Amino acid sequence: MPRDADNGMIRLVVTGKIPQAGLDVLASAGISVEAWNGDKTATRAELLKMVVGADILVTLLTEKVDAELLDASGPQLKAVCNVAVGFNNIDVAACTSRKVRVTNTPGVLTEATADIAMALILMSTRRLAEGERVIRSQTPWQWGMHYMLGAGIQGRQLGIIGMGAIGSATARRARAFGMTIAYSGRSNASEDLEQELSMRRMSQEELLATSDVVSIHCPSNDSTLHLFGAQQFELMKRSAFLINTARGPIVDEAALVAALESRQIAGAGLDVFENEPTVHQGLINRDDVVLIPHLGSATLETRAAMATLAANNAVRLARGDEPLTPVN
Ligand code: GLV
Repeated sequence: MPRDADNGMIRLVVTGKIPQAGLDVLASAGISVEAWNGDKTATRAELLKMVVGADILVTLLTEKVDAELLDASGPQLKAVCNVAVGFNNIDVAACTSRKVRVTNTPGVLTEATADIAMALILMSTRRLAEGERVIRSQTPWQWGMHYMLGAGIQGRQLGIIGMGAIGSATARRARAFGMTIAYSGRSNASEDLEQELSMRRMSQEELLATSDVVSIHCPSNDSTLHLFGAQQFELMKRSAFLINTARGPIVDEAALVAALESRQIAGAGLDVFENEPTVHQGLINRDDVVLIPHLGSATLETRAAMATLAANNAVRLARGDEPLTPVN
């Protein structure tokens, strides 16, 4: 294991609270760990202090790993192991130019996140959160033939933006609910997957114009920033719903509010927000949006698996081995 100048041990810093399963992996590899133990997420100042002299960082998506943080850490830094599949919190180019390896946690959160996408599809189209608010606010109500009607999804088209692991797991669920599937994205799905899901690839324009529900599953980066703006909402059906379980910056939230206000689209289900944890004020009081606080991977099992994978990546990097799930 590489040596640290002070005590001959590798210095590994976990910048947020992670499940014990991950800490156990590090401990059983003989790595001593300094882990953030504050009640709240570390402030930027606390983060910059914590990383000084670290060889390896295990980070959460709430931590911005940019040139400033890499410089604060120092030239000995070898790796940043993110406990998330998304890595838009990390400036990968800045890491690569400093020969800092970056890893993420794909695979282990696929099913949990697809569950949340499917839940948001049902909640949005069937007005479930709105209905729950009626009961909880003790608003008078009565069953009625025309009361709180939603949109059925049977036989309707789900358009998936980004047919990766989470996109295809969401499509599988939607097929079981009788939806048909279309997708768009940078690459073709395999023929086997196209056959399994009876789906076809479309241009994004065609997908937006023909889908009843559009679900976002692409990575967040410079090329997908505000992929959804006024123009895209204009292409969508007025009866369509937008679901986002990927990353907030992919959707221009102000444009979404405008599209909802002008009834350009019928509604949205959002697990992620442009400026988390802040949510656009224009969304807060709308009944045609479902808003949940970034819960995609939030199950005990999934979080333990994410921490374990990130820790295994860190152990391999500490030993000079190739990590399991490298980003660069
Ligand atoms: C969660 O949002 C993740 O990217 O893992």
